[in-house]
Amino acid sequence: MTAKRNILVTGGLGFIGSHTVLCLNEAGYNPIIIDNLHNSKIEVLDALEELLGYRPVFVQGDVNDEALINGLFVTHSPEAVIHFAAHKAVGESVDNPLMYYQNNVVGLITLLAAMKAQDCSKMVFSSSCTVYGEPETVPVKESTPTRPAASPYGATKQMAEVILKDNNWCEVQCLRYFNPVGAHPTAKIGELPLGVPNNLIPYLTQTVAGIREKLTVYGGDYHTADGTCIRDYIHVMDLAEAHVAAIDRLFTSQRIQKVLEGDPSTDAFEVFNIGTGVGYSVLEVINAFEKATGERVNYSVGNRRAGDVVAVWADTEKVNQVLGWSAKRDLATMMKDAWNWQKNC
Ligand code: WQD
Repeated sequence: MTAKRNILVTGGLGFIGSHTVLCLNEAGYNPIIIDNLHNSKIEVLDALEELLGYRPVFVQGDVNDEALINGLFVTHSPEAVIHFAAHKAVGESVDNPLMYYQNNVVGLITLLAAMKAQDCSKMVFSSSCTVYGEPETVPVKESTPTRPAASPYGATKQMAEVILKDNNWCEVQCLRYFNPVGAHPTAKIGELPLGVPNNLIPYLTQTVAGIREKLTVYGGDYHTADGTCIRDYIHVMDLAEAHVAAIDRLFTSQRIQKVLEGDPSTDAFEVFNIGTGVGYSVLEVINAFEKATGERVNYSVGNRRAGDVVAVWADTEKVNQVLGWSAKRDLATMMKDAWNWQKNC
């Protein structure tokens, strides 16, 4: 029985991080979680224990804490890092940009310094389709030129990608997420927005649950078929499985050796769009939710939200071919799982 590889999961009690912890374990890895509980709760660890059958290693702390991070590497010798820990609300970043630059950019640099000091040279990085800004054409390919980010959140992800590309001693699988939604089918873990949700689906499910009075659709006058913005919604379990595919590649592709030998055709930094390849408008999502759950959504169309792009969805050819991964769960499943989680949490 070969020893399991330790994988450090920053933000591992968060929405995507917690689902990825389950998939890592399923794939034979040993997840080591660090989380500052800024956007998650310790109860998620209890739920993970229930689902895993053991309590994963958890350290409460911040990626900006260099001493803590160095200590984690010395104690657990992770062979790779999945870096989720970051603030991620587009609207919030417009109101509080410095908090986003401190956490998302300085935090990454601190983590990379510790990785280098401890000779850990493999990372899966949580990036975002927001790096494309308002794309001129959709669907977006990885080669689609990035444009000025529409929000400080998107700018922090653009900066992070530049830092990771230049930091060429570290082999990086950079995953550009589209819109993660849904929850684990057991409804024991899911999206836990603390306070008023910034994102569409938690606000929608909280409205249907009676926690919020009404959902406001931010803008009905965009140049789309029904006037509302279009996004590529992806089930969080599909997204979690994509992270395992990326980790597997880091340990099987031998690319870093070619990079170190100076092979010009191999890059230590690989980027993938992690979406379904299908775009849905806000109104289409509301209709899909009502059809999938039999519930009615109380909403009205209001003003546009600062930082929003009109339409973005993924071209997924590269990730399908290189990682052998594609999304398997449809919008109806995303809506059912999101609603089951809301009823359960
Ligand atoms: C989706 C659509 C809103 C709330 C997210 C993540 C970000 C990144 C990209 C990973 C938009 C509309 C929303 C509401 C609404 N993912 N909306 N009423 O802004 O696309 O960004 O995906 O990195 O981290 O935040 O997602 O869910 O906020 O908005 O009408 O109450 O829903 O205008 O068109 P967004 P979102």
